[in-house]
Amino acid sequence: MTSSQNIKGFSKLNRQDKINWLARTFQLDTEVLSNWLVQDDSMALIVDQLSENTIAHFPFPYGVAPGFKINNKWYTLPFVTEESSVVAALAKAAKTWSNLGGFHAETIATDKEGQVHFFLQDDYQWLKLNFDSLKEKLLTDVQPLSESMNKRGGGIIDIRLLDKTTQLENYFQLAVTFDTRDAMGANFINSCLEQMASTLQAYFQTNSRSHLLEVNMAILSNYTPNCKVRVWVECSIDKLNDLVKGMSGETLCRKLKNAVDIAQVDVSRAVTHNKGIFNGIDALALATGNDWRAIEAGGHAYAAKDGKYRSLSKATITNNLFRLELEIPLALGTVGGVTSIHPMTKFSMQLMGNPAAAQLMQLMAVAGLASNLSALIALVGTGIQKGHMKMHLNNILTELKATDNQKQAAKVYFENKTISVAGVKAFLQNSNAYE
Ligand code: MEV
Repeated sequence: MTSSQNIKGFSKLNRQDKINWLARTFQLDTEVLSNWLVQDDSMALIVDQLSENTIAHFPFPYGVAPGFKINNKWYTLPFVTEESSVVAALAKAAKTWSNLGGFHAETIATDKEGQVHFFLQDDYQWLKLNFDSLKEKLLTDVQPLSESMNKRGGGIIDIRLLDKTTQLENYFQLAVTFDTRDAMGANFINSCLEQMASTLQAYFQTNSRSHLLEVNMAILSNYTPNCKVRVWVECSIDKLNDLVKGMSGETLCRKLKNAVDIAQVDVSRAVTHNKGIFNGIDALALATGNDWRAIEAGGHAYAAKDGKYRSLSKATITNNLFRLELEIPLALGTVGGVTSIHPMTKFSMQLMGNPAAAQLMQLMAVAGLASNLSALIALVGTGIQKGHMKMHLNNILTELKATDNQKQAAKVYFENKTISVAGVKAFLQNSNAYE
């Protein structure tokens, strides 16, 4: 870092001054920068406030895939992703599987969790004996914070004292379970946990034992195995004859099951397989303003719940019936946070009929299963590159600054040819005729 980049008080500058500083420091043209960095519409005013040091907005494609039949109801799902083939794959899966009985979904549980982590010297028996009275105090002190959540039917479900000393010396937890209704609930949970940490400290102090306790932290957990959804597709294998051209349903289902089984036992494949699932989940999470980092972290931990990282989906073939199932923790919100502020997330929610959080869990998991299915069918069928490169052709053409006419001509030319950057370059060099 050069010293000119070591600026103090950057966050206090207004946006134009931030842009001027960038232009000066990196020898950029202020006018050009301002032209594409500054947006002044009503959406910009809202988006500006969501983060710190905002100088611009970074547009991503917002696409929709209609025709998802889920528990016999039709949905159009919104997706935000930069990966060109994802929405096309989702739309294709929606069409295929909605004609084969549709997607099935059930929300298994919606409990969220958080912990107060603390260390205790030689005093566990005393705390265990007094835990009922401490618990009462914890619940009383947290009441002002949980009151409005209680009114909505949610709140604190349980507080447990966990002895973790076999894993780490003197380490204990207050493990707290929450019902946050339609909110993702991070702020509610963290406020309650911080209050509980203070109450715990005060309780030890009142009993002249504060020297024996050290609270380390109070924070929600993004591992939510009790906030979980199951989705699946199933159909008789002969219905899948020719879904991959020239391939019988029996062969396709065997290959699909083998592909999922490989991802159950081989970590290299499992990670990529699950990445394909998150292609759909993350894109819908972004479109609805949900925290995709939390979703990813929790999902990957769940994939390793038995000590080995595995596929999140499972395939079975029983009595000629093929079934692909996905069970995944998804801690989501449909009220509060970005979901209630950003005009586009509000639009996304409208598009889906303003689902409750427990229902959005189902829709998001279906998006995960749909993108998993599309990827697997391509992989065991014609291979992934044919479809990928077809979608990627447009990106290559844009990067090579092709004109609209050249783009159109290239799409026709490459319809049945292998697409590569070198091939597209050569095509453009010879394509004056299309100009
Ligand atoms: C690419 O974004 C996703 C895939 O790699 C998923 C998979 O391999 O299952 C195609």
